[in-house]
Amino acid sequence: MSETLIDIENVTRIYRDTNGTPLYALKGVTLQIQKGEFITFIGPSGCGKTTLLRLIAGLDQPQAGSLAIEGQPIREPSHERGYIFQQPTLFPWATVHDNVAVGLKALKVYEQKKYLVQEYINMIGLDGFEKSYPHEISGGMAQRVAIIRALINEPKVLLLDEPLGALDAFKRIELQDQIIDIWKKTGTTMAMVTHDVDEAIYLSRRIVIMTPRPGKIVDVINVDLGPDRNRNDEAFIQLRIKILEKLHLVISRPNPEYTI
Ligand SMILES: Nc1ncnc2c1ncn2[C@@H]1O[C@H](COP(=O)(O)OP(=O)(O)OP(=O)(O)O)[C@@H](O)[C@H]1O
Ligand SMILES: [Mg+2]
Repeated sequence: MSETLIDIENVTRIYRDTNGTPLYALKGVTLQIQKGEFITFIGPSGCGKTTLLRLIAGLDQPQAGSLAIEGQPIREPSHERGYIFQQPTLFPWATVHDNVAVGLKALKVYEQKKYLVQEYINMIGLDGFEKSYPHEISGGMAQRVAIIRALINEPKVLLLDEPLGALDAFKRIELQDQIIDIWKKTGTTMAMVTHDVDEAIYLSRRIVIMTPRPGKIVDVINVDLGPDRNRNDEAFIQLRIKILEKLHLVISRPNPEYTI
């Protein structure tokens, strides 16, 4: 039985442009994210993917509707909701070890849990780089460090906003496997934004398709492909075609700039 972790009910987030005209970054968005699932969000630029992730993180509040985690309203950021940005945001003055330790220190549990730092560094294959500084490691390595820095506090959900967007195609594929690995090992609920259809199919159990102006969910696709996925399987290819068709419909649909 799946259990709801995050409950997003009828959420609306309006911004205003310089003329004061309202812009619906999200309008009436409802979604339940299940405990332990891997869910991805895909859709054209401006459809509200980052806005939705920021609301779940508690970095922003909706004008209407509600968001809750395990039945508790989300009002502010918390270590129970880890957030990974597109560009790795490590502290440049701190080593890999110290970057990963930051979360434990913030919660004042470093002394009891410092053994975890090495465990997590080993998990992502960066043993030997503990004393390196961010400028001495690659973008892919830095993003992995950012991920374990969030995971070390055992968040209930990891929110990933295009975490692999800045990497080349080879690194992306490598990191996709590592993210899956981390997901399997830790069981952490993953909610990830991507603009890459293959990445969404490869990683997730459900794919949320969104559309802009107003930002809305137009479809939620189940990915019934089992745990070990192959990008060349017939079922994978069919799903890719189906999602691309849906995205083309979303993109080609005549759309007023502002919907009031
Ligand atoms: N702080 C802000 N002030 C004004 N408008 C904003 C603000 N943040 C987002 N928006 C607008 O809200 C809409 C949704 O933005 P959002 O960043 O959530 O889209 P996105 O789906 O993440 O796009 P992308 O794929 O380009 O990252 C866009 O039209 C954007 O211009
Ligand atoms: Mg975005």
